Amino acid sequence: MSALIPRPRRTVADGAVLVPDWLDVDRQRGIVDACREWARGPVPMRAARLPTGHAMSVQTVCLGWHWQPYRYSRVADDAGGGRVLPVPEWLAELGKRAVADAYDDPAAGAAYEPDAALINFYDDAARMGMHRDQEERCGAPVVSLSIGDTCTFRFGNAETRGKPYTDVGLHSGDLFVFGGPSRFAYHGVPKVFPGTADPGCGLTSGRLNITLRVTGLG
Ligand code: SIN
Ligand code: MN
Repeated sequence: MSALIPRPRRTVADGAVLVPDWLDVDRQRGIVDACREWARGPVPMRAARLPTGHAMSVQTVCLGWHWQPYRYSRVADDAGGGRVLPVPEWLAELGKRAVADAYDDPAAGAAYEPDAALINFYDDAARMGMHRDQEERCGAPVVSLSIGDTCTFRFGNAETRGKPYTDVGLHSGDLFVFGGPSRFAYHGVPKVFPGTADPGCGLTSGRLNITLRVTGLG
C-alpha cells in the first residue's frame, strides 16, 4: 500500500537503488494475473531442489531461461521437461523503464535487454538465504519487482554472506535495481510480514518477486 508519507528513493549501496511505489496497484494486479498464467506451465511453478536435496521454501517459475540451482537451461529437466515461455515484450520494456528510472539514465534503460525472469512466490513461512545472482555471464543490472506482502530484503556486499549489509523493507510495488559494483552482492529475504499487502494488488496472501536478468547465454 502506498504510504501516507511517501518513502524516499534510496541508494542502498553503489549501484543498488530502491524506488518505492514504482508500480501502481493496477499494474501490480496485471502482473499478478500474468504470474498466475505462467505458474500453470508449460513449466509449472515449483520449489527448486538444492544440491543438498532440500527443497527451497520459495516457489519459482521462470521465463526465457529456466533456472535451477545453479544453472540455466532452455528445458526444465527438473520440473517436468517442458520448455520455458519467452520473456514477453511488455515485461522486457518494463525492465528497460526500471533501469532508466532507477539510475536516472535513459541510455542505460534503452540498452537493457533482459532475457530471463525468475518469478518467486513466498508464502508466510518462506525465506531466501544470502546468495549471489551469479549464473549470468553478464554484468548487466538485476531488476527486482515486489508485489504483495512486505518483506525484509537484506542487501550485503560482494565478498561475504555476512556483514556489512543493509536491511530494507520491500513493499508491494517497489522496484529495486542492483548493478555496477553491487551486481554480484550477496542478498536474501530473511522475513515476510503476513497481511501487510493491499489486496487490490491481486494477492490476498504471500509475496511475489520478479527478477529480470541478462544471462549473457547464447
Ligand atoms: C532473489 O534474490 O532472487 C529474490 C529476491 C527477492 O525475493 O526480493
Ligand atoms: Mn537473488
